[in-house]
Amino acid sequence: MPEITLKPINQTVDAPVNKNLLDVLLEQDCPVMMACGRQGICATCHIYVEKGMDSMSPLSSREEKTLALITGANQISRLSCQCTIIGDDPVDILLPDGLYVESMADIEALVGKRTNTPILHPIDGSILIQKGKIITRTMIMKLSDTDFDPHSIHTD
Ligand code: FES
Repeated sequence: MPEITLKPINQTVDAPVNKNLLDVLLEQDCPVMMACGRQGICATCHIYVEKGMDSMSPLSSREEKTLALITGANQISRLSCQCTIIGDDPVDILLPDGLYVESMADIEALVGKRTNTPILHPIDGSILIQKGKIITRTMIMKLSDTDFDPHSIHTD
């Protein structure tokens, strides 16, 4: 049973072999949106495995394809919904900095507010609005053609 350290919330938990990594995050109240419903086609469950990649199931081809489209993904990136714990070595998990939004309405609700975290696209993880910016109607107009539907990007 490996020890999983969730760095964003500074918490360490024991997780049994064969448990899905996303379930571990959700049980610890990590804010994971799951925009595609665990299908491996969005950015919202993207995490970094800083230590213990050998304790995770291998990368699937779908996961590899999705990660290739995610801004900020690198060689230690995984989609937590696609990861199963398979080994006993300790694991350190880091979540990307930022807040994923699911729709234009989510952003519109923030008009007039200054973001204290980057606002991220739920499919490709790109930064829609930089940290520290005040969200304006002009920004919303520029983003109005943004597509938030994960199924519009991938088809299998
Ligand atoms: S929830 Fe969409 S890829 Fe994991």
